[in-house]
Amino acid sequence: MAQDERGVAVVSGASSGFGERIAQLLSRQGYSVVALARRADRLKALAEQDSTGAILPVVADVRDREGLARALDELPPDFRDISVLINNAGLSRGFGPLQSGSPESWREMIDTNISGLLNVSEVLLPRLVSRGSGHVVNIGSIAANYPYMGGNVYAATKAFVHQLSLNMRVDLQGTGVRVSCVAPGMAKTEFAQVRFDGDVERADALYEGIQPLTADDVAEAVAWCVSRPAHVNINMIELMPSDQNFGLGFAGSRTTPADGTDVT
Ligand SMILES: NC(=O)c1ccc[n+]([C@@H]2O[C@H](COP(=O)([O-])OP(=O)(O)OC[C@H]3O[C@@H](n4cnc5c(N)ncnc54)[C@H](OP(=O)(O)O)[C@@H]3O)[C@@H](O)[C@H]2O)c1
Repeated sequence: MAQDERGVAVVSGASSGFGERIAQLLSRQGYSVVALARRADRLKALAEQDSTGAILPVVADVRDREGLARALDELPPDFRDISVLINNAGLSRGFGPLQSGSPESWREMIDTNISGLLNVSEVLLPRLVSRGSGHVVNIGSIAANYPYMGGNVYAATKAFVHQLSLNMRVDLQGTGVRVSCVAPGMAKTEFAQVRFDGDVERADALYEGIQPLTADDVAEAVAWCVSRPAHVNINMIELMPSDQNFGLGFAGSRTTPADGTDVT
């Protein structure tokens, strides 16, 4: 059985960062959680460390439409009453200007942040609708609203997420399924490491001299959206570090240089 009548929350991208913290917080709040990502070892550790015992690791790539659908079709009975979908899996690659960008990186971001989100939604939205109640939270980004040098394709994928969230909400009107979009600013997760192809030093330099958001800050915003009474739909939450001055401009002298190679 699900932990209680809240049902099951599916969290994509639960192997690190926001998704990991969202999975932990929702399980503490009484949801059974399907934790979905590609790295099996991370998901296993997440499930084993959770004191509620209500986190189910599901290894899947959101870009693989058929494999993903199979994994979600084969959920054990206790994890089938899905009431919450957190579309969080996503990534950025590269930080240079568009004119010197890599089409492979653009494709990976589009396939993950746009098509991946649609693939998960394709499988789960009909289930939420037939349940007659539920909540979708899509993780956007302030990059969708405020341009910064080198943001280009990543920012555009997140603009898609913002607009899709508004349209999802309209399409789901009257079904009992609510839709929110949470748009964080700079947060310290593995996001920058992925963006810089595993260059930890370069990723860490991004946060020097500022206090970034934590994954917990974002998880709390997501959980707040989901825990509003049924008659309240939170459309959009935008949150950023107090030190962040929109885009990637920071308090003090930090700016983004034109070549996009460093931000210190
Ligand atoms: N950190 C920030 O500053 C920031 C700000 C605004 C928005 N965001 C957004 O927040 C979301 C979470 O990012 P994060 O900061 O928590 O970064 P993160 O620590 O790198 O986490 C990203 C998660 O997405 C998963 N993922 C990536 N590609 C996937 C795929 N093809 N299939 C399944 N899962 C996949 C990763 O798992 P596997 O690698 O194990 O598959 C990982 O669990 C992303 O959508 C990101 O764009 C981040």
